Amino acid sequence: MNQLTRPVWAEVDRAAIAHNVAEFRRLIDTDCQLMVVVKSDGYGHGDLETARAALASGASWLAVALPEEGVRLRRSGIAAPILVLGSLAAEQLEMCVTKDLVVTVYQWEQAQALSRIASRLQKTVRVHVKVDTGMGRLGIPVEQAVDFTAGLQRLPGVEVQGVFTHFATADQPLGEYVRFQQQRFGEALKQLTAARLRIPLRHSANTAATLYLPDTHMDMVRVGLGIYGLLPIPSKSVPGVSLKPALSLFARVTSVRRVSAGTAISYGTSYVTWRETSIAVLPIGYGDGVSRQLGNRGCVLLDETRFPIVGHVTMDHIMIDVGDHPVQIGDEAVLLGGQAADAVTADEWADWMGTISYEVTCMIGSRVPRVYVQRTDAR
Ligand SMILES: Cc1ncc(COP(=O)(O)O)c(C=O)c1O
Repeated sequence: MNQLTRPVWAEVDRAAIAHNVAEFRRLIDTDCQLMVVVKSDGYGHGDLETARAALASGASWLAVALPEEGVRLRRSGIAAPILVLGSLAAEQLEMCVTKDLVVTVYQWEQAQALSRIASRLQKTVRVHVKVDTGMGRLGIPVEQAVDFTAGLQRLPGVEVQGVFTHFATADQPLGEYVRFQQQRFGEALKQLTAARLRIPLRHSANTAATLYLPDTHMDMVRVGLGIYGLLPIPSKSVPGVSLKPALSLFARVTSVRRVSAGTAISYGTSYVTWRETSIAVLPIGYGDGVSRQLGNRGCVLLDETRFPIVGHVTMDHIMIDVGDHPVQIGDEAVLLGGQAADAVTADEWADWMGTISYEVTCMIGSRVPRVYVQRTDAR
């Protein structure tokens, strides 16, 4: 497939990423490090391009979920420290050591295995201890933080560089639960200090906590969503902080047909025209990450007008009802992003789909070519 000829593309604005990084840098103290989370191909924006733009504009760390994602960045010449956030299988440990990836640890056997690999390769593996303060996913319980860390510090070839926790309520940051987790993490840190286990990098804040709870910033913040210009709580912006969405999604019309009233559109005939109208076809579908949930719910911008997506979304096409508007083959539709004064946002998609904006951008598939641009206009 020649991707450049496909009339479907996602445009990623490097200037928006740089702008968002600068906004987060403004929010945190100068001695607080900014880790940019580029897992899942940079939340669908492109991991390498995001990493480069972020490191050039004030980020000092990167985070990935999989070591394979970290290896990809290393192979492309990224030398910045990279933390692997995800859980690992035994087969994935060696690449962490050889590629100088920083590993999240919370299981003793895995830490021992890392130590053996590092010793064999005559290298040092840096690790960050993950404490589970209430996420219920990965991490050691608060009560085991001291024993676990003390054990790690005795392992040859292992350097304990960080300790962190992850908040479960990213989209309700002012709730009591995040305060409960913060307090639990504080207890773990107090116990580590009392045991004279000094760990240089303590971190807890994701985008929401970085934006809304400055007292969670500590030595480093781990920001994903906000770097891509999206808010974890769409209705809750922070005064003085403006984030710019970095991704737009486009498709060109490949067919327009005039149909009479009573014409059924797409699989399942869930939409039947109620008047004579024109139906335009866009060559993008759920195979590209346009959720089926958008059928008869979502809309696109074309010629500065919102037109509804009608009928079911199919794997490779969607249909829009453009009425009597003079739409032609080749016209450009905006599925995500701005056109004139209006914009279809990832938060709207999330509403239509019953999900969160994280999933919207991650879902845009590898069939959709990414085009990187440097826009200076504020959107
Ligand atoms: C451990 C960890 N830290 C930070 C983040 C970044 O979260 P956000 O995108 O809300 O900033 C994630 C994302 O899932 C994560 O898993």
